[in-house]
Amino acid sequence: MIATEDAIEVEAERLLRSMMHVECDPRGRKWNLETCREIAPLTLEINRLKQEKGAVILAHSYVEPEIIYGVADYRGDSYFLSLKARDSQAKMIVFAGVVFMAETAKILSPEAMVVVPDRGSGCSLADSITGEDVRKLKGLYPDATVVCYINSTAEVKAESDVCVTSGNVYHIVSNLPARRILFVPDRLMGQNLRDELKRRGVDKEIITSDGTCMVHDEFTPADIAEARVRFPGLKVVAHPECTPEVARAADFVGSTGAMMKYVKTTGAPYFLMLTECGLVGRLQVETPEKTFIGGCRLCPYMKLNSLEKVRDVLRAPRPDQVVVLDEQIRQRAARCIDRMFELSPAE
Ligand code: 13P
Ligand code: SF4
Repeated sequence: MIATEDAIEVEAERLLRSMMHVECDPRGRKWNLETCREIAPLTLEINRLKQEKGAVILAHSYVEPEIIYGVADYRGDSYFLSLKARDSQAKMIVFAGVVFMAETAKILSPEAMVVVPDRGSGCSLADSITGEDVRKLKGLYPDATVVCYINSTAEVKAESDVCVTSGNVYHIVSNLPARRILFVPDRLMGQNLRDELKRRGVDKEIITSDGTCMVHDEFTPADIAEARVRFPGLKVVAHPECTPEVARAADFVGSTGAMMKYVKTTGAPYFLMLTECGLVGRLQVETPEKTFIGGCRLCPYMKLNSLEKVRDVLRAPRPDQVVVLDEQIRQRAARCIDRMFELSPAE
């Protein structure tokens, strides 16, 4: 069905109202009526296909703004999106994010067809460790409670006792009965966890594996020091996948959802966001009165998502775009994620 000129115009105006403040566009585009008109036929088609297929689109905050504001039903961090996947009644879930997030959706919503726009959307953390590696580590530390960051494969979750996200890691690990914790796969988050538990006076031994996020491990304390000199009154906001040196030098450390909340509720002349640039795009839309400084770091995996691929996967998913999990692994991984829901702090 071809959209009429009028429908395209109304859609372009809707898109522009959302996206006109986006300056951190990954492809350097400026959103004006003309560029919004170019994508309007696609967003109209995707929104129509969603209805036709009984589909819902979940989008992580790092994907491109035209997906987040043009077609997504829910947008947010890993924890929020896993709750939405768990509670979804949709026949089909399109996950615009990375593959481990879509796997998590399938673990929690096994009846739904869960699809990814691009099967290549991995994650340097999730790809750093296998289920077999975790089994070996468990052999070395048989008394440890195994905690996996949600940025891990279904196989790794199946080998773990409890899953955590960047938003609940400190709370959940503090409250586990075991003293010895095997934390996989993020070495830097594990080090930040060690620091935070010490600060809270919680006595735990944290053993980590060796993964890092290829985006967050690049920020340095020098970036912060230099920005503080140039922008007095600056607030520095970091993700816990950053190095401990960066986390210690920041004013606030939290999940992408918590980072957004912090910016929305903090008065400051400037903000430096030490995370993937998509989050700055979201903040420019949702807090247009705030000023963000600093360059853009992109997650190449998140940026594999596009409106065209979302449309194509909705029209007719190829086998490689459909998430399929071994049922035994799914059930064991579901136990590990359910444990996270039980132990998470109330919102
Ligand atoms: P959040 O859950 O904080 O959004 O983090 C996901 C992620 O991949 C960060 O790099
Ligand atoms: Fe993985 Fe880092 Fe990309 Fe997040 S930003 S999906 S942790 S590679």
